[in-house]
Amino acid sequence: MAEVNLRVGTDYETEDIAYIRATGSRAVFICGKRGSGKSYTLGVIVEELFAQERGKAVLIIADPMGIYHTMVSANESQSDEVRQAGLLTEGFPVRLIVPGDPLACFGDAQIVNRLQTNGVEVTSLWINAHDLSADAWCELFDLEINNAMGIAMWRAVDTLHETHEHFNISDILASLRKDTRAKSTTVEALENRLTAAQRWGFFSEESTDLTDVFSLEHINVLDLSVVDAGTKGLRNLVLDIVARRLFTERTRMRRREEFGMETSLPRVWMAIDEAHQFVPQSRASLCKEMLIRWVKEGRQPGLSLIVATQQPSAIDSELLSQCDLIMAHKITTWDDINALDRLSATYMEGDLKGYIRQLNRRGEALLVDDETESVDTIRVRPRRSAHGGAEIQEKTASRSFF
Ligand SMILES: Nc1ncnc2c1ncn2[C@@H]1O[C@H](COP(=O)(O)OP(=O)(O)OP(=O)(O)O)[C@@H](O)[C@H]1O
Ligand SMILES: [Mg+2]
Repeated sequence: MAEVNLRVGTDYETEDIAYIRATGSRAVFICGKRGSGKSYTLGVIVEELFAQERGKAVLIIADPMGIYHTMVSANESQSDEVRQAGLLTEGFPVRLIVPGDPLACFGDAQIVNRLQTNGVEVTSLWINAHDLSADAWCELFDLEINNAMGIAMWRAVDTLHETHEHFNISDILASLRKDTRAKSTTVEALENRLTAAQRWGFFSEESTDLTDVFSLEHINVLDLSVVDAGTKGLRNLVLDIVARRLFTERTRMRRREEFGMETSLPRVWMAIDEAHQFVPQSRASLCKEMLIRWVKEGRQPGLSLIVATQQPSAIDSELLSQCDLIMAHKITTWDDINALDRLSATYMEGDLKGYIRQLNRRGEALLVDDETESVDTIRVRPRRSAHGGAEIQEKTASRSFF
């Protein structure tokens, strides 16, 4: 395999170019206080990956803020900085993947048109009721699997799983109504919940084939901002299904590769912004178990993960401890400094706290790399493509920064 080295910035002291080695699979943790440059840095890594891994790796950004579609345009607002860094501004091919019908998701045809005029390819991700296990259906509705509603729901879905390759919410309803052991009040309560689920708008007769939706020639932006954050766990549900299917598929493909056979899904890089929403500390989430498994077992099937958050203390510590590369921007709250400090490694001269204190400016980051056992302060390079949400953030950032 060819060497992949991502040019992420310059060393603060020596001005040498700073690289991240990404030849094998990696688990990257990006953190920093609000407005310190996390999402921007995540974009830099993805730009580098695309430049070097186009056609060879699937690149996915799970985007709960709806800001990464802007990578389709060149970074004109910082064009001087980009030039000074010896780079060219450039927009990248972006495929925006929305769960369900784009028109229904955005609720505005002009937005969809505008995205497409800008060059963004907009695609739907459809989910089948079969994609969720019986446990996941119960979890989604907050049902204990040992109370009456949980038992009935679990039984209905489990029976369908045994007998069908695909099924719909209406099939679950039919199965529930046939269940002579379930009380009518239990069935009615579940009917209400399942009817609400039908309105989420991303269930369909068949689920989308992963190789149809994720392109090797695009940066794949999974827009989770269009999924109702208020309805419990829906964003987590979508990410769980995507991660689970990619994981299973890659494990299967990996076996084919071992026998020298062709594969349609090569290695995968998944970047998750605002990751505390998906892998929270000390509370369950639908996708948490899957993402922890992704970092723990992903090395063999070639699965890499990048997670970004403002709050290291709010992210699951098991996931954090698996990360082999940290890019820490400025952090000021004690809880977060302490959570990060627990990741201090034996090869460091001091603890992480000490290093973090020395960071001063936006775009500055501490790069702690377990592979090379090195700790460096770097200036993250400017983005070649446009960074989304900048204007709104600029205002808050200039008020609250450091
Ligand atoms: N390396 C950099 N070079 C130039 N500008 C940068 C750099 N990093 C960040 N910025 C600027 O700082 C602003 C804030 O960055 P960004 O949106 O990445 O912050 P954030 O840490 O993700 O904030 P939030 O917690 O609100 O999500 C950006 O709009 C961008 O203009
Ligand atoms: Mg951000």
